[in-house]
Amino acid sequence: MMIAIPEVLTGRTLDHVRELVADAEWVDGNATSGHQSALAKKNRQLPEDSAAAREAGGIILDALSATPLFIAAALPLKVFPPLFNLYAGGERFDTHVDNAIRMKRGTDFRIRSDLSATLFLNDPDSYDGGELVVEDTLGTHKVKLGAGDLILYPASSLHHVTPVTRGERLCSFFWIQSMVRDDGARRTLFDLDTAIQAVASDRGQDDPAIIKLTGVYHNLLRRWAEA
Ligand code: NI
Repeated sequence: MMIAIPEVLTGRTLDHVRELVADAEWVDGNATSGHQSALAKKNRQLPEDSAAAREAGGIILDALSATPLFIAAALPLKVFPPLFNLYAGGERFDTHVDNAIRMKRGTDFRIRSDLSATLFLNDPDSYDGGELVVEDTLGTHKVKLGAGDLILYPASSLHHVTPVTRGERLCSFFWIQSMVRDDGARRTLFDLDTAIQAVASDRGQDDPAIIKLTGVYHNLLRRWAEA
């Protein structure tokens, strides 16, 4: 499932994250790559342990925990500390698949990447190219969102970033280990959740059928989740 989550960062928070990372020291993007993606990747990145990445990443993690649509769609168990990348002057990332297991260097933190996330930080009108292109069983999806918006997509997908031919594409990217590993099961829970919310807004949360359906949601989650 691919889902766009608007306005994860807005206003001053978005400006603050942008300022933090803009002034930091960028390095060759291959610092985090596996062997195959090192050949495909031509961009720049903030070092994982840079103070700016840690501070800006912390702001993003706080924002995610206050975004109900992210929680409902990802059902996150663990989120990898957000990283940051920058593309300009024709930089791109050719077709690749993200590593299944991500480890945080120098720590025992590791996650299975069920979902990949890209949080767009620059106004899409300020650069040309830089679309995230995701291939799944339904075809090819091109994504270029507004500043502060996030795309969640299956980490198992093949994807690439088209060359940035004008301006700068600044993004944060990270991975999520979901409490519900299976993409189809997670999707079913999300659909049930959003349908319950829609009906509850007409009938009220205390409607007996809504209470029963909410129970069904939680009992499926109990059956499928690892926590
Ligand atoms: Ni990737």
